[in-house]
Amino acid sequence: MDKNNIVLIGFMGSGKSSVGHNLAYILEKKFIDTDTFIEKATGVSIPDMFMNQGEGYFRAREKEAIAEVAQKQKVIIATGGGAVLDKENVKVLGSTGCIVYLKATIDHLYNNLKLDQSRPLLQEDNMLETIKNLMDHREQIYEDAADMVVDVSGKKIPEIVREIKEKLRMN
Ligand code: S3P
Repeated sequence: MDKNNIVLIGFMGSGKSSVGHNLAYILEKKFIDTDTFIEKATGVSIPDMFMNQGEGYFRAREKEAIAEVAQKQKVIIATGGGAVLDKENVKVLGSTGCIVYLKATIDHLYNNLKLDQSRPLLQEDNMLETIKNLMDHREQIYEDAADMVVDVSGKKIPEIVREIKEKLRMN
């Protein structure tokens, strides 16, 4: 497999989809969001899938989606925030492209997510506490999976896209 894709990882609300869209447009590549891919393939929305079939079912569909998307060439892939919790997914993603971690502070994430109702894992009484707890567990996993880390806190999408392009020397 040629390693010519760019794979965006990071917590919910870190901007993977927006950055991915913009990056794909600028680099004239196709953009694939694995959550959207799953929703199209199954005809079920992610919140409905979590509610009716459970997280385990979603993770299995996510793994299938990653295996399929990784076969594609010259694409920008935005993964769901929990995709890299599975070591095999990390391996597959790493074999298809450069893994870029969009790293954000808890404040930045909370600010982006506080009004959001589409993330099943965050529909708890205290969202800030939930984000902190999940990040405690995930931060190191994101760092370990990444080929490149980009700090996104306090930055606008075009700035993040520019930074990724520069770091990848794609200017
Ligand atoms: C999840 C993140 C979501 C989606 C699902 C689970 C997670 O994707 O895959 O709700 O475990 O962090 P985004 O990171 O695109 O919100």
